[in-house]
Amino acid sequence: MKYLIISDIHGNLEAFRAVLAHAARKRRDAVLFLGDAVGYGAAPNQVIERLRQMGSSVVAVRGNHDRVVLDPGEGAVFFNPHARRAALWSAEVLTPANRRYLDSLEAGPRKVEKDLLICHGSPTDEDEYLFSEMEAQAAFAKVEESVTFFGHSHVPCMFERGVVDEQESLVGMLLRGSRLVIDLDPSRRYLINPGSVGQPRDRDPRAAYGMYDSDARRFTLYRVPYNVEAARRRIIAAGLPTVLADRLLHGA
Ligand SMILES: [Fe+2]
Repeated sequence: MKYLIISDIHGNLEAFRAVLAHAARKRRDAVLFLGDAVGYGAAPNQVIERLRQMGSSVVAVRGNHDRVVLDPGEGAVFFNPHARRAALWSAEVLTPANRRYLDSLEAGPRKVEKDLLICHGSPTDEDEYLFSEMEAQAAFAKVEESVTFFGHSHVPCMFERGVVDEQESLVGMLLRGSRLVIDLDPSRRYLINPGSVGQPRDRDPRAAYGMYDSDARRFTLYRVPYNVEAARRRIIAAGLPTVLADRLLHGA
């Protein structure tokens, strides 16, 4: 099976459009969405509508922002002030149909096929970040599948676990570049973050997405330039904090 993998769109319609246009001619059987359609960005309705148009080809898990926007009074207390403001604003502008869509998203983890899992944060907690090898070690212990795609940190990266000379080895690496092809070793296990469509945080402002061919065990990461200025202006015009607009320029 061939999958388009998208995560952390965060109400950024310009970035989402650019990713879909870039991926349009690549063959795919399904779309894996790792959560956070909304939050931060100023086009939550348009982003959800685009996801809804993609219909049943999308296999999704909800993100923490998708959950919090449905009940920001309760959930946003743990957010920083900018994220909280964006969550409250998103909750106000969401149409009833788009709220229902967010409400219908399943909490992860979700098994996609025999050896493939998706989740938002970590396999056991949609709010947990996987940054370090120690965190990855704990996550590997919780999953049986050899390939797990996760989001939430907005940083394209990969943790690879294998056995060398009867010793377990685990290594984490950042994934950089415009197009990066990785052939996964069948004897090893992987946790892979395809980066964020709408709010990259690895100092590369381009939108990120992945393609995965589960038969060939080949993962490809793409970075796509998009109209950052238009996304930025939309955030400012909505009256959201300028810092949410400016961080898009820096991929931060
Ligand atoms: Fe996110």
